[in-house]
Amino acid sequence: MSQADALVVQLPEEERPTKWYNIQADLPEPLPPPRDPETGPSRIKALPELLLAECLRQENSTERWIEIPPEIQDLYRQAGRPRPLIRARRLEQRLGTPARLYYKAEFYSPTGSHKVNTALAQAWYAKREGYERLTTETGAGQWGTALAYAASLVGLKTTIYWVRAVHDWKLQRRQFMKLYGATVHASPSPETSVGRALLKEHPAHPGSLGIAVSEGLEDARRDEKAIYCLGSVLNHVLLHQTVIGLETQRQFEHVGEYPDLMISCLGGGSNFGGFTLPFLADAIRGKDIQFIAAQSAAAPNLQGEYRYDFADHAELTPMLKMYTLGHRAEMQPVRGDGLRYHGCSPILSLLRHRGLIDTIAYPADERHVFERARMFVQSEGFLPAPESAYGIACAIDEALKAKEDREKKVIAFNVSGHGFMDMEGYAQVLGL
Ligand SMILES: Cc1ncc(COP(=O)(O)O)c(C=O)c1O
Repeated sequence: MSQADALVVQLPEEERPTKWYNIQADLPEPLPPPRDPETGPSRIKALPELLLAECLRQENSTERWIEIPPEIQDLYRQAGRPRPLIRARRLEQRLGTPARLYYKAEFYSPTGSHKVNTALAQAWYAKREGYERLTTETGAGQWGTALAYAASLVGLKTTIYWVRAVHDWKLQRRQFMKLYGATVHASPSPETSVGRALLKEHPAHPGSLGIAVSEGLEDARRDEKAIYCLGSVLNHVLLHQTVIGLETQRQFEHVGEYPDLMISCLGGGSNFGGFTLPFLADAIRGKDIQFIAAQSAAAPNLQGEYRYDFADHAELTPMLKMYTLGHRAEMQPVRGDGLRYHGCSPILSLLRHRGLIDTIAYPADERHVFERARMFVQSEGFLPAPESAYGIACAIDEALKAKEDREKKVIAFNVSGHGFMDMEGYAQVLGL
C-alpha cells in the first residue's frame, strides 16, 4: 500500500506543532486596524479591560511564529491532539468520484469541536493573569462548552450567554455545560442592561451572537475578577486554531499529496481560518489552491459589504474592517446556528477581498445540507455537528462536479465538530 492509500493519517507525537502560525506576517497588505466610531467613548482605549493582556498582544503581533507554552501543549495532548486526517474512501466510492477526499477529524474533541483549541489557551492565560471567572457568548453551544471545560481544567468559573433560539432546544448541551460548573443564561437575559432592554421590546427574543457578545462584555466589565473570552472572529482566536492546519500540512506531506481545494464551514471564521491559514500563506506566495467557505443563506456574511462595523449588538467593541451584514441585522435561526453571525474575521475578510476565498451559502431550510450529512454518516460513520455539515455538503457537491469534469483533484475539508447533542435538529429536518 502506498502512502497515498493510507486511510487514517496519524501525526507522530514528535511532529505536533509547538508554535502557532501568525499570518499577519505574510498578508499581502497590513490588516486594517480596529477603529473607534465617530461619537462616544474610545473602545480602543478600553480594549485592555475587554481582552486578556496576552491575547491583546497576540492580536496585534506580526511575529510569524508564536510559541505555544508547554502547559498549553500538554492541555492539547490531553484533549487528543494531534487529530487524524482521514481519507474518505467509502464516500468517494459512493459518489463514484475520481477526486480524492480527505477530512480533518476535529470532532475527536472532549466537548465536541475545534473550539477547545482556543478555549484551552484563553483559559490558561486567564488563570496566569489572575482572573477568577470567564464570561462569554455561545451560538451552537460548542464554544460555551469548550470554554466551560477549559475553565474547569485550570480552576476558573464560567458564565455563558447562550443565544436563546438554540439554548431552548439543546437541553443536553446545557446540562453538559453545567456539569463543568458553568452558569448558563439564555440570551437576551435579564442579567444585563442590553438584555433587559431587548426583552422589554420582545419577551421571546430569539437572540443572536452579536447580542450575546454584548451581554458577556457587560457582565465582565462590572467584575474586576472576570474577563471576557471570544470564541471566533479575532486574530488571536484564529492564531490558536492554526494547530488544525499545521497538523494537516504535515499529514499531507506524509501521504505525498497537496490539496487542490480546501473547504470548511464559516460562521465567524475560526475553524475555516485554523484549517486554511497555513495553506493560504502558500496561496499568497502564488501556489494554485482554491478555498471555499460554506455558509448559511440565513447569514451569508461573506456576501455582505466590506466595511468597518461593530462586532456586537450594543456597540461595546471597536469597529473592525470585515465583511458584514450589519451588526443589528436580523437573521432567521437555523439548526447550524453557530454560522449565524453578522461578520467575518478581519483576516479572512481581507483575503476574500483580495480574491483568495470563494463562498457558497446553502438555503436556510437546511435540507440539502442535512441530506449530504446523511451520506457522510452512512459512508464514513461519524455524525457531524450541523455547522460542520455545511462544509461536508460543499465537499460532496465539489466531488460530484469533479466527477462530471473527470478531475482527479484532492479535496480537503474540515469536520469541525460532532453532532451527538444535535440529533433533534437532524430529526426535524430529515423527519427521523
Ligand atoms: C462545530 C462548529 N463548527 C463551526 C462553527 C462556526 O464557527 P467558526 O466560524 O468560528 O468556526 C461553530 C460555531 O459555533 C461550531 O459549533
